[in-house]
Amino acid sequence: MLGKLFDNITFNSMSSKAFSKALYSAHNSEAYLEFSKRVHGTDFRQFNLLDKEQYEILIKRLELNSADKVLDLGCGLSELSVHLSDKFGCEVTGLDFAKDYLSTLETPSKVKLIPADLNRIPTFENKFSKAVCLDSFYLLKNPSRVLDSIANSLEKGGKFFLFYTQKTSSGILPKWLEHSSFDIEIMRFDKWNTDFWKRWNSVLEETQEQFINEGNINLWKTKKREWDFQGPLLENNGLIRYLFVLTKSN
Ligand SMILES: C[S@@+](CC[C@H](N)C(=O)[O-])C[C@H]1O[C@@H](n2cnc3c(N)ncnc32)[C@H](O)[C@@H]1O
Repeated sequence: MLGKLFDNITFNSMSSKAFSKALYSAHNSEAYLEFSKRVHGTDFRQFNLLDKEQYEILIKRLELNSADKVLDLGCGLSELSVHLSDKFGCEVTGLDFAKDYLSTLETPSKVKLIPADLNRIPTFENKFSKAVCLDSFYLLKNPSRVLDSIANSLEKGGKFFLFYTQKTSSGILPKWLEHSSFDIEIMRFDKWNTDFWKRWNSVLEETQEQFINEGNINLWKTKKREWDFQGPLLENNGLIRYLFVLTKSN
């Protein structure tokens, strides 16, 4: 899932079909719902790296109301898109290249899911007031260009909330951020490194049997592999977790 983060070891090769399969299993899994509740702290499924603190900050900072139009980039399971629309009455458009999975979903009228590659974001007639990207920015070919497309999709003053994790050894900030046209606010979550990942691993151990009983051991292994790569990095504070709040000022 998080290819660049792990020096292209595994998930970089995850195709849209592989993502579709994993997302389909997760969306239909009670064991995965249990995992999300305990690891992410929400009563809906997430397929990202947010803990409850990060989720709550996102919700607070989004300041959504029914007039908002939100773009969810790499919407994955799309349960967050549905949740935001239900809770705040806003319109949400989700983009993801996992088209086989998206085609299995039925969504409320204010949620529109579009199969799309983020490397080629479609042009929208109406601009969005907010955009979010929760851990879907790792596999992009040219992140600077994608940022420009996101800026083009937002109205003036619109905000883009980007959750991103970087290896400490790769430097303080991703290079593509330095050249963006957005005004940049940076939040760091250092405690996340230990608390979140330890919980991730222990909940996986405790729920393994549930996953097996459901026939979802491959999904369990996918999540376990993430721990296998992250675990050694955590010992030396090897990962930095960010929320970038990017504002389109002109
Ligand atoms: C880590 S998951 C995050 C999903 C979702 N944002 C969430 O919070 O649960 C990464 C998502 O990005 C999608 N993705 C990866 N590369 C993509 C690309 N080039 N274009 C569109 N979607 C992509 C995958 O299909 C997957 O759903």
